[in-house]
Amino acid sequence: MDYAPDNLLITGGAGFIGANFVRHWLSRPGTGPVVVLDALTYAGNQANLRGLEHDSRYSFVRGDICDEALVSRLMAEHRIDTIVHFAAESHVDRSILGPDDFIRTNVVGTHALLKAAKKIWLDEKAVRAHRFHHVSTDEVYGSLGLSDPAFHELTPYAPNSPYSASKAASDHLVRAYRETYGLHTTLTNCSNNYGPYQFPEKLLPLLIINILSGKPLPVYGDGLQIRDWLHVADHCRAIELVLTRGMVGEVYNIGGNCETTNMQIVRAICRQMDELLQADANLLKSYPQSPAARGKPAETLITHVRDRPGHDRRYAIDFSKASRELGYAPSFDLAAGLRSTIEWYLLNTAWWQPLLGRDYAQWVQSNYSAR
Ligand code: NAD
Ligand code: DAU
Repeated sequence: MDYAPDNLLITGGAGFIGANFVRHWLSRPGTGPVVVLDALTYAGNQANLRGLEHDSRYSFVRGDICDEALVSRLMAEHRIDTIVHFAAESHVDRSILGPDDFIRTNVVGTHALLKAAKKIWLDEKAVRAHRFHHVSTDEVYGSLGLSDPAFHELTPYAPNSPYSASKAASDHLVRAYRETYGLHTTLTNCSNNYGPYQFPEKLLPLLIINILSGKPLPVYGDGLQIRDWLHVADHCRAIELVLTRGMVGEVYNIGGNCETTNMQIVRAICRQMDELLQADANLLKSYPQSPAARGKPAETLITHVRDRPGHDRRYAIDFSKASRELGYAPSFDLAAGLRSTIEWYLLNTAWWQPLLGRDYAQWVQSNYSAR
């Protein structure tokens, strides 16, 4: 039977996917209140939620998911019946350079949320029905060979980075709370998201912004690693489907049906950026360092750099279970998704410019070289 969430607690709602989901959820007619709980780490940004402060259904609490007392209090005060858990340390390179924060937030933090949920929902029976939805990643399944079948929900876990190991641990805790205590959980493992509000250390926004400022486009190793690119709007729709139609205790893989090598996506972005810049004299004037403004193709900025240690070669997602059981299908093809994403970054310079305090690519490379 379908589930109708009333009062949502959204952790990590000031991050990339969380903010897109908060916006998506509040745009549905008849949706109830949403409380965002976010620690506002370097990746959290209240500007991602700008405009929502006028919506009486929306409230924001700055706080840490590891603070179990805070989570319990929020759940009781707001009669939360549904948690959608996005909060995490999410960047693989950072997890290689410093795993501690990943263990704390992704493992200990998820456990604190589960403990609070058990106390309020199961021990105190504060609500009639409840759901704990955990947002996880395809990286928990490890790396595929070129001809291996895509990851499905029963693929054994084989995480290779401190990030994916911490997400795998959190997935296991969610499973354990379901099996042991009967918590009503659902879990999604999805592929690489892209779209508006993505922090500019991740590949796609980093490429777009570096092209505008004429900086190198760092490609790790040979660039033949394969990812399945999922537009964040499709991911948000998938989570809505899981929340409302998903079966308690089930896991759903969510993909974008857009497998490409990194080199292919880098070249696609270069081509689209060249087209957009060349077609607009104002853009060329605004970005005098861009290759287009200097009469060169953006591809001339491509630079092969030191590979990420333990770099997974290929991810691919079999999302047939979500299609069959929930009616999920991605709506974006890669060319259209990249175009709208590039256009968003071109229109929203005021959003990303304040985030460029550090040259992320150089920072990662110099730290890798120092090892
Ligand atoms: P993000 O890094 O953009 O955002 C994470 C958010 O969590 C930030 O707002 C941050 O302030 C908040 N946060 C971090 N630690 C916290 C803590 N201790 N307490 C409260 N808030 C905290 O991440 P994202 O890309 O939006 O990813 C969201 C979720 O989706 C993560 O769980 C990630 O593992 C998962 N995921 C992401 C992708 C992707 O491609 N981005 C793909 C698969 C799964
Ligand atoms: O697969 C899902 C995962 O996708 C999520 O769980 C993670 O939270 C999310 O960050 C993302 O992980 P990736 O490591 O795949 O994303 P990233 O954008 O960091 O890198 C994408 C690919 O591009 C990867 O193969 C590494 C490569 N890369 C990345 C950067 C930042 C480069 O070649 N150069 C770069 O500068």
